[in-house]
Amino acid sequence: MSHLQRFKGFRRDPERKVRESVKIYLDTANVEDIREVASWGVLAGVTTNPSLVAKEGRVYEEVIREIAEICKGPISVEVLALDAEGMVAEGREVVKYCDNAVVKIPMGREGLKAIYALSSDDIPVNTTLIFSANQALLAARAGAAYISPFLGRLDDISEDGVSLISDIAEIFETHAIETEIIAASIRHPLHVIEVARHGADIATCPMKVLEQMCEHPLTSKGIEQFRRDSEKIPRPGMTKN
Ligand code: E4P
Repeated sequence: MSHLQRFKGFRRDPERKVRESVKIYLDTANVEDIREVASWGVLAGVTTNPSLVAKEGRVYEEVIREIAEICKGPISVEVLALDAEGMVAEGREVVKYCDNAVVKIPMGREGLKAIYALSSDDIPVNTTLIFSANQALLAARAGAAYISPFLGRLDDISEDGVSLISDIAEIFETHAIETEIIAASIRHPLHVIEVARHGADIATCPMKVLEQMCEHPLTSKGIEQFRRDSEKIPRPGMTKN
């Protein structure tokens, strides 16, 4: 199985004709957070970008190598070059030192050239900064294994991020396009529910959102109640008053 095949074609199960349920990725370059979420058993992959890596104040390649030791799923690593030639060169380097790397390429004319070149060489690409269904369609047709529509940034300018996911999912379904939809720029737990309902294959979440997803005030209240009541359970050898 080629490097690209490992990442492509997961959208539908050809046998059961059903789409895999929504997978959870962590959107960060923080290795402690990645280790923590991996230990929960829910981590299917990681997405990074230059801003997230810069926040860690560490050498790019060093961080990616460390992430790859923790997460065995796809790790999106964004190129820094702005021209196709540079993007392709960076992409080829990344997959040399990170086995499960997915090269993250920004949408655009240069991006499309790079997606086409890399995917023709079986190197999986995640097209980032997708803000329209047309961009998603072009990236998929150029060969991207993944596309990342940015919900939160659309919501920020009063456009509906969730309906973009829904439009792309419908187009991909209608035309049997295998490219997976990564709902990105997720800002809150409701976004995750909405994108899961509207056909995203993956939700890439900041750590804060995953923590919020774990919690519910009634869960905390229930745990506290059980803890208090557990103190009333007689222990062996205790005499009843
Ligand atoms: C996606 O891959 C990006 O890294 C990320 O989701 C961007 O999110 P932001 O809009 O919160 O920066």
